[in-house]
Amino acid sequence: MKSTVPEQSESPLLDVFGRPLRDLRISVTDKCNFRCPFCMPAEVFGERYRFLPRAELLTFEEISRLARLFVGLGVRKIRLTGGEPLLRGQLEVLVEQLASIPGLEDLALTTNGYLLAKQAQALKKAGLMRVTVSLHTLDEEVFGGMNGRGFGTKKVLDGIQKAAEVGLGPIKVNAVVQKGVNDHTIVDLSRYVKEMGHILRFIEFMDVGNLNQWQWDQVVTADEIIKAIGEEMPLEPVDQDYRGEVASRYRYLDGGGEVGVIASVSKPFCGDCTRARLSAKGEVYTCLFASQGHDLREALRAGASDQDLTDIIIDIWSRRTDRYSEERASAAGPGPKKVEMYQIGG
Ligand code: GTP
Ligand code: 5AD
Ligand code: SF4
Ligand code: SF4
Repeated sequence: MKSTVPEQSESPLLDVFGRPLRDLRISVTDKCNFRCPFCMPAEVFGERYRFLPRAELLTFEEISRLARLFVGLGVRKIRLTGGEPLLRGQLEVLVEQLASIPGLEDLALTTNGYLLAKQAQALKKAGLMRVTVSLHTLDEEVFGGMNGRGFGTKKVLDGIQKAAEVGLGPIKVNAVVQKGVNDHTIVDLSRYVKEMGHILRFIEFMDVGNLNQWQWDQVVTADEIIKAIGEEMPLEPVDQDYRGEVASRYRYLDGGGEVGVIASVSKPFCGDCTRARLSAKGEVYTCLFASQGHDLREALRAGASDQDLTDIIIDIWSRRTDRYSEERASAAGPGPKKVEMYQIGG
């Protein structure tokens, strides 16, 4: 029997391990203006690298239509990602379409912040609720290396400030930590973000994609990060905000806000993973480390009905068995080729 589009009150769509579908991360472009070596190394993505041509990208109408169907299946939170999402022209038009979807509770954006100051106001007006900005260090030289372009921090800091001014908070700052690269700047960054009143989250360097030559010995674990900060500014752990939250959170004992760590290598959180990812060309990935996506674009462009598309999504999610980070420890060798981070936005 064919399933029908569920009403929001119906029992949730669950995967093989009983995990509901709650979050959708939508990549709106595979392009980026940075060349972070841990994501899009400049040697691979040079001047002549060909990103997806326009016709390959889902249109805003196609994205919104799929988003609406995902919300019908239980998604409550949508996050726009890239590559760098602010490189997609007129992104505010998409934001406006998504913001009007009934049942959607949270609409956020993850950006490298470089173009944010210019766009923050329009995005807020269109209905974006909050932003997360990546900023891995305040050290100009280290930052220049980590963005692969030698860019300074100023534009990113201006972007964060502008986003706060227009009401795109609470603002989260994401910092990837790589041993020997920026780990000596963790405490400085923590102090700065604390003083600005934003929420900082450190991300363990992950083996996403196939290009960053990841090694275990380049990972600074969440425990080590928290210890380093706690020695300067005492901390205590805070309970999870919601099931499936990726960050473990800590509160500064002086009342100055909180800091989080995303321990996807040292303490994987697959058991609560409720995230689906939609690539810019319309493939659904059910894990950040998946080898293969499930194409929806062909069906979309062949005239599939909402019901047909919903059935495809139900089929994908109900067969899902991903738990890559939990399996990593026992995996022998590198395994099959994985999707790249810039294709699905982290
Ligand atoms: P909030 O909604 O503010 O809690 O943010 P979020 O959890 O959606 O955070 P965000 O997108 O900023 O995620 C932070 C980072 O955590 C991502 O960019 C990834 O690097 C990592 N991350 C997020 N989800 C997953 C996941 O499902 N698996 C793994 N391994 N890492 C993840
Ligand atoms: N390990 C951890 N985090 C990463 N990010 C990109 N590549 C990696 C990696 N290899 C981060 C980005 C951004 C978020 C989407 O994920 O810098 O903050
Ligand atoms: Fe661009 Fe983000 Fe990848 Fe850096 S991590 S290259 S900012 S998509
Ligand atoms: Fe989810 Fe895959 Fe990350 Fe595990 S590794 S938390 S299944 S995205």
